[in-house]
Amino acid sequence: MNYILGIETSCDETSAAVVDTNGKVLANVIASQIDTHKEYGGVIPEIASRMHVEAINLTTEQALQTAQKEMRDIAAIAVTYGPGLLGALLIGLQAAKTLSYIHKIPLIGINHMEGHIFANFLDKDKFAISYPYLCLIVSGGHTQLVIAEKANVYKTIARTIDDAAGEAYDKVARLLQLGYPGGPIIDKIAKTGNSQKIKFSQLKLKDKESLNFSFSGLKTAVVNYYRKNPQADKADICASFQQAVVEQLVVRTITAAKKYQITNVYLAGGVSANSALREAFSLEAKKSGINLAFPPMKYCTDNAAMIAGAAIPKYLDGKYSGLNIKAEPNLKI
Ligand code: KG4
Ligand code: ZN
Repeated sequence: MNYILGIETSCDETSAAVVDTNGKVLANVIASQIDTHKEYGGVIPEIASRMHVEAINLTTEQALQTAQKEMRDIAAIAVTYGPGLLGALLIGLQAAKTLSYIHKIPLIGINHMEGHIFANFLDKDKFAISYPYLCLIVSGGHTQLVIAEKANVYKTIARTIDDAAGEAYDKVARLLQLGYPGGPIIDKIAKTGNSQKIKFSQLKLKDKESLNFSFSGLKTAVVNYYRKNPQADKADICASFQQAVVEQLVVRTITAAKKYQITNVYLAGGVSANSALREAFSLEAKKSGINLAFPPMKYCTDNAAMIAGAAIPKYLDGKYSGLNIKAEPNLKI
């Protein structure tokens, strides 16, 4: 069996993982910086970089230890080279390049968004992907619909024209003074609220012209409502806001699946951990005859196992990166 070491440092999680070429995760160590960034209500790039420097060696060592592997057992090193924060990306990339150079192990640069998609293919009985598939990637920085026709060939058919869904969650949570990151907090609070209480206006979902997303207007609607109704129950605001986000994501994705006649649909990214989103999607997919899958919760938010997973087909095809690979903060899929 061959093993891939994954390294991820694109935002506020330093992570290292060991995954075999069947997609089985032997170790996935995550050093989260959330408790530090929480105090500022969001990620501070300079602090993120410094914390990655402090954590990267230990995290990598722990991943190897947990997997009971040594560098000589590793067949390839997969590392995120974008998109993400430049200073943060550079730390993981430099660590991976150094290990690759010293141990003479091939390096494979991975697009973070492709990594999120591959969170769906980990820990299965065998590593088999059915093409074509449609994937809704919803994270803190991105909201896009991607079609994969075959391995390594992606087409983005829709994206957000303003904020990402996770960003909207984080901004609404900040407005309501609920803490950071907003997604999991709103998800929890919304369970006790009435999602039908407030009808926040948002883009017209019946407009079939475009499949693009927009969350900025919805966020403004929440801001305006809260200003006018400061005594309103926050649980109702959270539930109603979440309902609008989920509706948009589900309607757009199902419309796209029908338009492009694709039956395999995946969710990916931090927001795919959302309980209401998973529930609504499962229901609608069933009605529409769509095979829907989403990653296990532990692989939804940033982690290195998904990065190592995305490297499997590239490793098997011998598609390696040079040691001159650069960090690309705005890398597209
Ligand atoms: O994928 P991710 O870990 O990082 C990026 O690549 O951006 O996603 C982080 C985002 C944050 O905006 C966070 O609020 C959101 O995912 N998130 C959630 C949930 N868990 C994380 N949003 C809604 N519901 C959740 N349960
Ligand atoms: Zn991410």
